[in-house]
Amino acid sequence: MKKVEFIGLGYIGLPSAALAAKSGFSVLGVDTDQDHLAKITSGEIDEKEPGLKNIVLEQLAKKNLTTSSKPDYADVFIIVVPTPFNKEMEPNLENLLKAVDSVIPFLREDNLLIIESTCPVGTTEEITNIILTKRKDLIGKIKVAYCPERVLPGNILFELKNNNRIIGGIDEESAILSRAFYEKFVEGEILETDSKTAELCKLAENSFRDLQISFANELSIIADEQGVNIWDLIKFTNKHPRVNILNPGVGVGGHCIAVDPWFLISANKAESKIIRTAREQNLYKTKWCLKKIKDEIKFISKKKKKKRISISLMGLSYKQNVSDFRESPALFIGKQLIKEDVADIFFVEPNTKNIDNLETSDPEKSYEKSDLIIWLVPHDDFKKIKIDPEKNELDFCGIRQ
Ligand SMILES: NC(=O)c1ccc[n+]([C@@H]2O[C@H](COP(=O)([O-])OP(=O)(O)OC[C@H]3O[C@@H](n4cnc5c(N)ncnc54)[C@H](O)[C@@H]3O)[C@@H](O)[C@H]2O)c1
Repeated sequence: MKKVEFIGLGYIGLPSAALAAKSGFSVLGVDTDQDHLAKITSGEIDEKEPGLKNIVLEQLAKKNLTTSSKPDYADVFIIVVPTPFNKEMEPNLENLLKAVDSVIPFLREDNLLIIESTCPVGTTEEITNIILTKRKDLIGKIKVAYCPERVLPGNILFELKNNNRIIGGIDEESAILSRAFYEKFVEGEILETDSKTAELCKLAENSFRDLQISFANELSIIADEQGVNIWDLIKFTNKHPRVNILNPGVGVGGHCIAVDPWFLISANKAESKIIRTAREQNLYKTKWCLKKIKDEIKFISKKKKKKRISISLMGLSYKQNVSDFRESPALFIGKQLIKEDVADIFFVEPNTKNIDNLETSDPEKSYEKSDLIIWLVPHDDFKKIKIDPEKNELDFCGIRQ
């Protein structure tokens, strides 16, 4: 088990490939996006991920890690490509199936293929069938497993190494071989099970998180209606020894929590009542915030006797201190406000110069120039801004607490 191939070098694939390379494997990182590959090899790597740039450049220089736009032969194949959902809120497995298809010609006896992409229950078995239908010569001769990722953007390298991992093999040998692979660089506990349990485990984890956040978001709306400060309320309720309410925000974003529950809901429509309601409640919170913002713009315009006011939208990423904008509710709010042309807007996002053609502005200057400040994401950089008690502010993320 010497040569390892990662298919997909994104948020998860790149750090995983670098870590595997550092632990002694000869790693080939494959990505179909040539521009992305060029960025990696020229060192244009997310500096918000602690240690990532260093480890990637070090392993590239040592040639333990090489990159290519095409697969090759290897001992272990790890598929870690995006698995979004479509307009019907059903899983879109196009990338995953294409990635599998691309490695099929390179599979050999005794190879291990691991799927890390989040996928619906039963996918690993289906993919095994696809492979063995095309390569009957490999029946009984390759190992396949599912091993979901649980890492937190902003702390990926640490969590890849230290988190506990669940490995679901299509048979016992597949799980044992996968464990032997991960043990080379994972220090957390490694637990073996079957592939369907591991697939459901990943979906259950993120649905659980979505549910907990939806409670906080619902409570924030109730508190607002009742004229109660939500941050005080949470501080006091969490003094109960068995209560731990999470922080509310402008919704839920990112490529996991906002996506994965749909994989369960679409496959188990009748059964997933609470999971669906939680998802819908988190989506509703974003719309609720949008309405609050528009009402406040009208109110401030009237108060200041201005036809058009200027506002600062503070934070656009899906959560604090990351440059990840996938499914970001804050970005959705920004785009919606432009569409409705309700004010002059400064987009303030210290983690990027522009996102989807929206140029971002300097935090301090935008704060100074704006009639209304809207806190969407509590980035650490914002805490340096000097508070002006005269400013009109809407705080959806608890930055002032
Ligand atoms: N980002 C997270 O925090 C996180 C956490 C847990 C699980 N996951 C899961 O991991 C998977 C990957 O997520 P990500 O965030 O790394 O995605 P990503 O979008 O950052 O990166 C995926 C990479 O795969 C490449 N790619 C797409 N199709 C390909 C193909 N056929 N062959 C080779 N490369 C291909 C893309 O060009 C891209 O660079 C998803 O299923 C996601 O749900 C992500």
